[in-house]
Amino acid sequence: MPIEWNEGDQVFHLYNSNISYLMQIVHGKYLAHLYWGRRVQVLQPISILTFKGRAFSPTPEPADTQFSLDTLPQEYPAFGTGDFREPAYQLRTRDGSTITEFVYDSHEILKGKRPLKGLPSAYIEDESEADTLIITMVDSMLGIGVNLNYTIYRDLDVITRSVSFEHLGSHAIELHKCMSMSVDFHESDWDWLHLQGTWARERHIERQPLHHGTQSISSARGASSHQHNPFVALLAKGANEEHGDVYGISLVYSGNFQASIEVDPLQTTRLSIGINPFDFIWLLKPGETFQTPEALMVYSSEGLGGMSRTFHKLLRTRVCRGIYRDKTRPILINNWEAAYFNFNEKKIKEIADAGENLGIELFVLDDGWFGYRNNDKSSLGDWVVNKEKLPNGLAGLADYMRKKNMKFGLWVEPEMVSPDSDLYRKHPDWCLHVPGRSRTLSRNQLVLDLSREEVCDFLLETLTNIFTSAPISYVKWDMNRNMTEVGSLGLPPERQKETAHRYMLGLYWILEKLTQRFPQILFESCSGGGGRFDPGMLFYMPQTWTSDDTDAVERLKIQYGTSIVYPAITMGAHVSDVPNHQVGRVTPLQMRCHVAMAANLGFELNVDKLSTDDKTVVREQITRYHQIKDIVLFGDQYRLLSPFEGMDTAWMYVTTNQEQAVVFYYKTLATPNPPFFHLKLRGLNPKMKYKVNNGERPFYGDELMKIGLSMPLIKKDYTSFIFHIEAN
Ligand code: DGJ
Repeated sequence: MPIEWNEGDQVFHLYNSNISYLMQIVHGKYLAHLYWGRRVQVLQPISILTFKGRAFSPTPEPADTQFSLDTLPQEYPAFGTGDFREPAYQLRTRDGSTITEFVYDSHEILKGKRPLKGLPSAYIEDESEADTLIITMVDSMLGIGVNLNYTIYRDLDVITRSVSFEHLGSHAIELHKCMSMSVDFHESDWDWLHLQGTWARERHIERQPLHHGTQSISSARGASSHQHNPFVALLAKGANEEHGDVYGISLVYSGNFQASIEVDPLQTTRLSIGINPFDFIWLLKPGETFQTPEALMVYSSEGLGGMSRTFHKLLRTRVCRGIYRDKTRPILINNWEAAYFNFNEKKIKEIADAGENLGIELFVLDDGWFGYRNNDKSSLGDWVVNKEKLPNGLAGLADYMRKKNMKFGLWVEPEMVSPDSDLYRKHPDWCLHVPGRSRTLSRNQLVLDLSREEVCDFLLETLTNIFTSAPISYVKWDMNRNMTEVGSLGLPPERQKETAHRYMLGLYWILEKLTQRFPQILFESCSGGGGRFDPGMLFYMPQTWTSDDTDAVERLKIQYGTSIVYPAITMGAHVSDVPNHQVGRVTPLQMRCHVAMAANLGFELNVDKLSTDDKTVVREQITRYHQIKDIVLFGDQYRLLSPFEGMDTAWMYVTTNQEQAVVFYYKTLATPNPPFFHLKLRGLNPKMKYKVNNGERPFYGDELMKIGLSMPLIKKDYTSFIFHIEAN
């Protein structure tokens, strides 16, 4: 029974064989946080909570003047009744007050895990995989219940949390803040780590010591964003890839979010994540419920690497869905960097012919196939094939590919509209806007108002028509700007601040319908590269275009940073041309292939123009990819050398039975007269014998991990190697 309720001590204990999460109801009312971390067997809650009066800390219980909410570690804290730290929620009543008193009312322990209505969430396949606790706190004056949902997985060191506000009272209230989770740690001696970036430079790792006060990351862009991934981790001092306590929290949401960490003067740390409270107000009327997105909480005592492997397994097997979840993905060729908007049927066929010859399995027709879209200035919204470019339409092209034994895939950017489009001319009010105000363009386009039902219905119908117009096996779903003038003509003034979240609900609704209607399509999400690489999108689309930056060196950092949370199978990675279109760097084709082979391999260049030698390299690497792809895409990843720390990068993937592994090693700038170097591997069975690249003499796993694999002396910039390790 992995969720225990100790009535005598009023303690909840959620546990599996590795982790424990403990809470206690204090004074019959307040929900205190006791502990989260490595599994504990015996607990005396009194030893964790110490009540001691502090100057300026208010005392809500007349009979216990040592007790204050200001010093109590809590699960879902409020502001205004004595706790001066960052609250988890705030609501405003009709009399203008924000004071609430939610006290423990009841709880329920359930087998399994329930889906969230209208929102993506981690799931189970069998009831025995998880248990759920719902604690209900009630404010009797308002007649509102707050349900705190906790699920613990049996075989994954994961706790999920979300909250729902249920209004059973008689007067509408405004929700101003409703985080998905909040937790108070008893110490503050942590580093915090998050993934920051910008377009073409996503998910770079930033790690810093916590300081007193609040530190936070957020997005107010209407997308989870290139700038900050909806993820944050706390690391014990000295914790590294292999050792130390690490707590990682990720939000299953693709819109505005905030993750906040506050260290108070008594050296406690409060961490919360949820919808960004900035520019958000939700009107909750009697009879209505508001459900927050879900937070995924991972604890690892095996450092950052351990945390990542848990996230990888959770996201790959219990967030991603559909027939491609457990399948390797076809190797694709995308025409974007090969031709941009400047293509016709002949050009597409030339690329496809060459691609087929090299062993490429899927052709993806990118932007520019519809309306009059010969640049980015028009036609978004007019999803009608451009017969001047493609006289035989999508069906003709798909048929051409089919005859070559290649699948056919298509780019769309459905959430957008160009002012120069028939759609905009017909429905100028269908975009996000504020009447009377300018409509700020970005990439010459506006955002359709997905908070409106009729817009979502239109998109669902339009996309259904496109996806049935030809045998389409793959869809790249793009989104190339962030939101401005966030307002909706479909909502009354008092609901305008709901627009951004309602947009996400509309988007998720469309994606749910489409993925149900077209289960055979492999969807890849994209937002100018990785501007919406988050668990919310992965729930509908099992892979994401990692970045518009395809330079092999830049990609090392991007893919390494992405792997902190996301497994290789969720990343799209393409081999592109040199000089690279983003940074002008020239790297060898082999290194470009080796970087892209550490994810879902694809190509994005004029393969028809490659030299004979380059074609040979591509063919060889494709053959190699087929040999190793199962290990990369389904294995456990170990990061060995970080591109953020020097010129060497290495990572490896190991199968669950430890019989196979593949190691990638990359050198960016070579060092003159370099030292001898042994790369210490990880995750192997110490007692098993392994052959490296089918070499003559086997090594013990022990040897490879403790002494290391001898690396060749490198005399050239941008050199890379792949080592296939197989049990002998
Ligand atoms: C941004 C994407 O990230 C690119 O790969 C490409 O699809 C362009 N949009 C097309 O406009």
